[in-house]
Amino acid sequence: MRILAISGSLRTSSSAAAVVRLAAEVAPEGVGFTFFDGLGDLPHFTPDLDTEAPPATVQALRDLLAGADALLICTPEYAHGMPGSLKNLLDWLVSWTGFVGTRVAALSASPSADGGSYALQWLVQTLTVMSADVVTTMTVPFVKNRLATADEKLRQELAAVVRALSAS
Ligand SMILES: Cc1cc2nc3c(=O)[nH]c(=O)nc-3n(C[C@H](O)[C@H](O)[C@H](O)COP(=O)(O)O)c2cc1C
Repeated sequence: MRILAISGSLRTSSSAAAVVRLAAEVAPEGVGFTFFDGLGDLPHFTPDLDTEAPPATVQALRDLLAGADALLICTPEYAHGMPGSLKNLLDWLVSWTGFVGTRVAALSASPSADGGSYALQWLVQTLTVMSADVVTTMTVPFVKNRLATADEKLRQELAAVVRALSAS
């Protein structure tokens, strides 16, 4: 079982990236994670470039997805939405038939009390219209404190997310 993990943040000390890494840490035996680190390298989406031979970075993303059994995304929230860089990544997958039916765990993480629920709603809406199979969702409120205190409840919640994603 291989999960491709994507953090929707480009920030060096990103909480969303830390959540994704923690999900990998608590994953049960037999579940391996690959981390996508090319978010900032994807060109701005335009249908003009979305041809039979897309840009190499886009092809690399699609190849990683083709080799994975499921996808885990954790998005930050910017102005009640997902970051444009993450929406850009998803736009590159809209017309790619390989994305249809992809099992996805959709997460948001924020220092706020609602954990970035607006961004999560938008992410789920986008994934749904792209015909992904959104298996489970989760918000991580107060993310910075919870990561700093090695929150056991957060570890258990993430383990449950990974179990849901890897269940056949
Ligand atoms: C431009 C900007 C807009 C933001 N808007 C929101 C918001 O609407 N809701 C929220 O909960 N946090 C918001 N935040 C705070 C982010 O959740 C916080 O910076 C978070 O750590 C970003 O995720 P990251 O650590 O994964 O990079 C915003 C931050 C920035 C810089």
